[in-house]
Amino acid sequence: MSKITIEGGHQLSGEIKISGAKNSAVALLPASILANKKSVIYNVPEIKDIDYLIKIMELLNCKIEHKEDALYIDSSEIKNIPIPEELSVQMRASYYFMGALLAKFGHVEISFPGGCNIGARPIDIHIKGFEELGAKVEINKNRYSITAKKLIGKKIYFDFPSVGATINIMLAATGAEGTTIIENAAMEPEIVNVASFLINMGFKVRGAGTKRIEIEGCPKVKDGVIEVFPDRIECGTFVIMGALLGNNLKIKGIIKEHIEALLMKLTEIGVKYKIEEDVMTISKCENIKPTYIKTLVFPGFPTDLQQPMTTLLTQAKGKSIIEETLYENRFKNTYDLNRMGAITNVLSLHKLEITGPRKLKGTKVIATDLRGGASLLIAGLIAEGTTEIESCDVILRGYSHITSKLKSIGAKIEITE
Ligand code: EPU
Repeated sequence: MSKITIEGGHQLSGEIKISGAKNSAVALLPASILANKKSVIYNVPEIKDIDYLIKIMELLNCKIEHKEDALYIDSSEIKNIPIPEELSVQMRASYYFMGALLAKFGHVEISFPGGCNIGARPIDIHIKGFEELGAKVEINKNRYSITAKKLIGKKIYFDFPSVGATINIMLAATGAEGTTIIENAAMEPEIVNVASFLINMGFKVRGAGTKRIEIEGCPKVKDGVIEVFPDRIECGTFVIMGALLGNNLKIKGIIKEHIEALLMKLTEIGVKYKIEEDVMTISKCENIKPTYIKTLVFPGFPTDLQQPMTTLLTQAKGKSIIEETLYENRFKNTYDLNRMGAITNVLSLHKLEITGPRKLKGTKVIATDLRGGASLLIAGLIAEGTTEIESCDVILRGYSHITSKLKSIGAKIEITE
């Protein structure tokens, strides 16, 4: 297990570049098997989740070459091999092979996916969607066997606009006869990124980014090509760091529309920044006001920035409240934040109170999940003294080259095995 050591209190200046979005890339890789023979995916982040997806694709007999930040995928000799649990549990996104392999072969065998332990995270909406398209789903303990002699397009209503289910049903629907319509679809940017990839292959996808998506199969697909969007959550994490420690810090690769909810909140609490083209310039905010945040599906405030934002609010003057509506176990980071000197109080499974401002002190902490780990990393950057983050591999699951990027803008940070 790796460990990150941070000496806190150093200003951040210079320029930091946002990498490709984890939650787009992890869907684009499985989606690439739907292309005719080959795909190129540009701007792929170097994160652990991608390493595991590549292992699964190699198991399926895909050939993958890495050139700079691009992945060249040859899926012309793909084999539909059952995906073993030891690979599927390594990340959440292994569930995208359900939709992709079902569309391609009419059958898939895979175990329940893994991912951060931040709540129960069922996949019932995915399963119901596959069944509505005509698939038979058998579940034996953790193992899913999904089969369809023929998938038939249909209008499907989602009880909740799940990101994963929207993408999975889009993938499955590419193999269906006729038109599939998803009502109450998720609207996150990742969905638009995947839809563009499918459109480039020749599939018809209309309405991605809205609540209603239409998908039609295609008798003769082409090779696939796509560029991964910049990661809005990595971007938001850097913006939060800039509000705490920036000295004209420049963040490159901003897509303002993807982080509007965060920007509105930051403006409300007194943070000032400037955006020119895709570059934000941000400096430390000396007088942060408290606030109320409710996490919501896009375009609401993203749950994935809730934990980094908690660290920011430990520096606000007064009481803030965070209401986490998506997950029931996403306040675990507050245990260690309090050990560093923060005053946070979990009022219920979904509500957190933060009282600030508090001086944080470096100590030994444990990263329990990806974004919780990021919140501790931010705490380490602002704390007095040294912070050691153990089990930091979870952070590397989602932040590409995090320590070298932060070093390049002035942080004193090291990673050791
Ligand atoms: N849900 C169900 N049933 C389902 C699907 C979802 O009840 O069939 C519930 C979940 O339990 C959760 C909520 O709906 O309470 C949202 O789940 P969603 O399906 O939208 O999320 P996901 O696909 O599991 C993706 C990201 C998460 C991110 C969420 C929300 C990937 C691989 N993961 O998860 O990313 O929090 O969307 O935006 O894309 C992260 O990056 O740290 C992360 C956890």
